[in-house]
Amino acid sequence: MKKIGVVAGMTLLAVALLSTRYYMVDLPAYHFFGGGEGPDPAALHLRGEFVESNLGAAQEEPGSLTVRMIAQQFVFVPQCVVVPAGVPITFRMTSADAVHMLSFLGTDYGLKVVPGAVTEASFTFAKPGTFKIPCHEFCGAGHYAMRGELRVVPRDQFASLLPGERRTCEQR
Ligand code: CUA
Repeated sequence: MKKIGVVAGMTLLAVALLSTRYYMVDLPAYHFFGGGEGPDPAALHLRGEFVESNLGAAQEEPGSLTVRMIAQQFVFVPQCVVVPAGVPITFRMTSADAVHMLSFLGTDYGLKVVPGAVTEASFTFAKPGTFKIPCHEFCGAGHYAMRGELRVVPRDQFASLLPGERRTCEQR
């Protein structure tokens, strides 16, 4: 009887820790009700908000920034994105194939990405730095090599970048 209490206690503790440590955004609710509003995984590059020219960081309204990325076996598109420090960044992501689960190493931020739906979450990175984005959901043979990158730069440096330079980490 005592054992069960200990196990229950540990489970509760684990759940409590996970819920505070790991900020994970799960599937949008409509996905479960067959809304069919999500992007077509097979046609991401053809139409809709995930066409190539629309990927990366984009200033939508003053003071807000949106990053659009696709997760697919076994890369992120774009593979590296540049964003400003200290600004709330809205991530909008979808998958072209399997379920992927990414985290921003060194932070508590994470995202689950599924085909046919858009996962949206807003994160703020206080200081400049480089964050690796590994995939944590087994998604196939190349899973362990699947990692993107987020480069957080000072706001004034970001402002001087051209739109094309915001979706690559290559130097000018
Ligand atoms: Cu994508 Cu594992």
